[in-house]
Amino acid sequence: MSTALTGPRFGRRSEPAESRAQLPPPSQPQAQAQSPQAERAGNQGAPPPDSIVALRTLCLARLDPAVVSNMPMDQLVADIERLISELASQNRAQLNAREQRALAIELAHDILGLGPLEPLLDDDAVNDIMVNGPQRTFIERAGKTYLSDVKFRDTAHLTGICQRIAAAVGRRVDESSPMVDARLKDGSRVNIVFPPLALDGPYVSIRKFSKKTIDIQRLVEFGALTAPMAKILQVAGRARLNIIISGGTGSGKTTLLNALSRFIDVSERVVTVEDAAELQLQQPHVVRMETRPPSLEGKGEVTQRDLVRNALRMRPDRIIIGEVRGGEAFDMLQAMNTGHDGSMSTIHANTTRDALTRIENMVQMGNMGLPSRAIRTQIVGAVDLIVQVERQRDGKRRLTQITEVCGMEDDVVALNDVFLLEIQGQREDGTLFGRYRVNSVPPSFMRRLSYFGLDQPWADAIQEARQ
Ligand SMILES: Nc1ncnc2c1ncn2[C@@H]1O[C@H](COP(=O)(O)OP(=O)(O)O)[C@@H](O)[C@H]1O
Ligand SMILES: [Mg+2]
Repeated sequence: MSTALTGPRFGRRSEPAESRAQLPPPSQPQAQAQSPQAERAGNQGAPPPDSIVALRTLCLARLDPAVVSNMPMDQLVADIERLISELASQNRAQLNAREQRALAIELAHDILGLGPLEPLLDDDAVNDIMVNGPQRTFIERAGKTYLSDVKFRDTAHLTGICQRIAAAVGRRVDESSPMVDARLKDGSRVNIVFPPLALDGPYVSIRKFSKKTIDIQRLVEFGALTAPMAKILQVAGRARLNIIISGGTGSGKTTLLNALSRFIDVSERVVTVEDAAELQLQQPHVVRMETRPPSLEGKGEVTQRDLVRNALRMRPDRIIIGEVRGGEAFDMLQAMNTGHDGSMSTIHANTTRDALTRIENMVQMGNMGLPSRAIRTQIVGAVDLIVQVERQRDGKRRLTQITEVCGMEDDVVALNDVFLLEIQGQREDGTLFGRYRVNSVPPSFMRRLSYFGLDQPWADAIQEARQ
C-alpha cells in the first residue's frame, strides 16, 4: 500500500515549484504570514512547532504531493494523523488526540477536496451551499436556509479552493476573469464570483447534485402532487406527449423531469442536451451531451442550440433539453413538430401561460422578424402539456398547474388547466393546504391517447381526481 509519508524531509520547501503544485497553495505561505510562531520561524529556520499553524506547515512539508493526491481520503487522514502525532511529540506540541485528528481531517480535506466544504458536500441533507466570503457559509436544508459553522482560515484559503474548482474544469478564476461556472466531480453545479465584483471575498454558490433520485411516487408522498395527477403524467409520458415543466429556480423542475423520464420506454433512443448535466435517466439507450463554455481565448464555445441541432441528426426517438434558455427554443419546437414527439424540457417561468410567452420571446430573439402568430402556431403544434411547479411560502414544492395547450383562438393560444391548485389556508404549523380544481373536458390530444390505448386510463384518473 502506498503511503503519504516521505522520509524526514524538512528541506522540501526549497524544491521546485511544480513538485508542490498539488498542495493547497495558501496553507504554507499564508499560514506563516499570519502567525507569530511562523514569523519567528521565518527568522530562525525551523519553526518552534508549538501551534497548530506550525504543525500544519511542518506536516505539509513532509507529504509527497505526487503520492497524496492519489490516495483515498480515509487512508490519507490516517497517515496524516500518524505523522502529526509523531511531529507533535518530537516538537512537544500541546495538542490532544482530538485536536490532532481534527487537524489531520482538515489537511486531508484541503489536499484532496474542497477544504471545509467537504463535510457539507458529504451531507445528503444539504441541498445548497452558499459561501459569502471566508467567514460566512449558509446552507439550505429541507427548503430552509441556515448559517453553518463552516469557516475558511482566511481569504487566501478560500481563494485557493475556488481556483482548484475552476482548474478542474479547465477554467481560471481571478480578478481578470471573476465569474465562473463549473461542476464538481460528483455533478454538483458551482458558480464563483471573485473580487472586485464580490465585495466581501469570493462568493461560491453550490447546487448539490442529488444522489438519490426522487421518483413520482416519492413526490406524491411529499405532497407535491396527488396520486391521480401522477397517473395523468404517466399517461402523458407513455403517450409521447411533448411536455414543458415550468417553474422558478429551485422549484423542483429538474427533479420532476427526472421523475417523468422514468415513463420513457427502455427501447427508445433518448438524446439529452444540458448546460450542466443533472439528468439521471434510467434507460439503457441514452446519449448525453453537455455544452462547452468558450476557452480562455474565447474560442470553441458549443451552445445548447448547436447541440439540439446536432441531436436532430442523431436519430433520436426523444430529445430532452435540461432547460431552454435561449435560441434553442426554436430548434426544440422544430424537433417536437417533426416526429420527435415525447420530448421534454424545463423553462424558468411563473405560470404556464408565462412559459409560453417566454418560449415565444426566446424564439423571437434567435429569429428576428418571425411574426408572433407564426411562432404561436408552432408552439401550439409542438407543446401538448405544461406543468407548473412552485416552491411555496411554507417551503414545500408543489405542482400548481397541469395545463393542456388546446389550440389557437384568433391570435391567442388557448390553454386549459386540467389541474389547478387553489390554496385555501394555512395550518397552525405553517403548512399550506388547498385543493385541485379538475377539468374533465376531454383533451385535444384524446385521439393520440386512444391510439396508444391510454384514453381510458386518462379518463379514470380524471374521474378519481374529481371524487
Ligand atoms: N417535491 C419536492 N419535495 C422536496 N424536495 C424537492 C421536491 N422537488 C425537488 N426537491 C429538491 O429541491 C431541490 C431543487 O430541485 P431542482 O429540481 O434542482 O430545482 P430546479 O430544477 O427547479 O432548479 C433539489 O435538492 C431537490 O431534491
Ligand atoms: Mg434545474
